[in-house]
Amino acid sequence: GAATLPTHAISTGDGRSFECGSTDTLLRAALRAGVAATYECNSGGCGTCKFTLTSGEMHQLDPDAAGLTPRDKRKGKMLACQSVPLTDCEVALQAGDAWFADQSTPGVRSGRVTRVRHLTHDLREMTLTAPGAAEFLPGQFAMLTVPGAPIHRGSPDGAPRGLERAYSMSNLPNDDGQWQFQIKRVPGGAVSGIVVDDLDIGDEVLIDGPYGHAHLKDSGRDIVVVAGGSGLAPMVSVVRGLAERADAVDRRIDFYYGGRTPVDMCAIEFVDEVRDRVARVELVEAVSMDDADDGWTGPRGFIHALIDHDTVDGLADRDIYIAGPPMMTDAVVRKLVLELGVSTDNIHYDRFF
Ligand code: FES
Repeated sequence: GAATLPTHAISTGDGRSFECGSTDTLLRAALRAGVAATYECNSGGCGTCKFTLTSGEMHQLDPDAAGLTPRDKRKGKMLACQSVPLTDCEVALQAGDAWFADQSTPGVRSGRVTRVRHLTHDLREMTLTAPGAAEFLPGQFAMLTVPGAPIHRGSPDGAPRGLERAYSMSNLPNDDGQWQFQIKRVPGGAVSGIVVDDLDIGDEVLIDGPYGHAHLKDSGRDIVVVAGGSGLAPMVSVVRGLAERADAVDRRIDFYYGGRTPVDMCAIEFVDEVRDRVARVELVEAVSMDDADDGWTGPRGFIHALIDHDTVDGLADRDIYIAGPPMMTDAVVRKLVLELGVSTDNIHYDRFF
C-alpha cells in the first residue's frame, strides 16, 4: 500500500519543509502541507508552477509538458505539478506566505458513480459519492482518475497509475460527499471518452482536490460568467453559489455560453434553477459554426465579441468568471482588459490547455 512507499523531505530554501510521497507531486505535497505554491492548471500546461531544483533529484512525469519552454529547460526550470522527488530535495518554489484561509486542503478520496445524466450529445453530468464532506469552493476543480484510463507513462516507481484529468465541480460543497462534474467528450481524449461513454453507476473514481483559484469571491458584486465547451461546470457552480448567498436577491448575473452548434446548448436549465433567487439573470448562448441551415436564431460568433459595456450594464464593477478552452479565455480576457478597460483584479479564471 501507499504507506510503504518512500517519502522524501523537501525544503524550500526559505526555512519551510514538508514531506512528499513518491506517488505525489511536488506541487500537491506543498499544497497539502499548507505551502501556497503558485499554480493554475495542475496539469503541465500553464507554466505557473515553475521552480528551480537546488539539490536532489526529481522525476518528470511528462518531460514534454507544454508549460516549459525550451528556454526554461535550458535554465534548468521544472514544473512542480510534473515533478516527483526521487531523493530529499531543496527547491526554490514560488509561494505565498500562507495557505489561503478559505481554501480546503486538497486530499485524495475514492468515490463511486452514483448518478449519470446526459446534458447534450457529448456532455455528461456525473455525480460521485465519496466518504466525508465534499469541501470545496464554487468554481474549483479536482483531479480525477477513472477506471480504464491509460496508465501514466511517467510513474517513477513503476506502480500503475491511471492518467488523471482536471475537472471542475458543478455542484456546491455539501456534507453528503457528493462531487458533481459535467464532462465533455474531447475528440481523441484518452479520459473524457471513457467518462462520457463507458462509466457506469458503481464505478470507482479517485478524486484529488479541491484545487484552483477561480472560485466565487465574497465581494458583494454582480457577476458575469463566461463558459465555453467544457467550462460549463465551474460556471454553474459559481452561479449556484451566488444564489445561495444572503444578498442573492440583489445580485445580477449575466451568463454567456459558447458552443459550436445548436445541439451544444444546455445552459438554460441552470439559469432557470436560480431565476427566482436573484434580482436578474440573463442568458446569452452563441453558436460559433456558421451553418445557415441549423435552425439557430440566436447570436452567432465567438463569445468575446458579444460582451460589451452596452450588453452588460455596470461591467466595470462586476466580478467576471471565465472557464473554457484557452483560446476563448484569452480572447475574453484580452477584450475585457485592453478594449473595455476592466481591471484584472475583477477577472477570475484558471488556464487549462
Ligand atoms: Fe503546473 Fe500549470 S503547469 S500548474
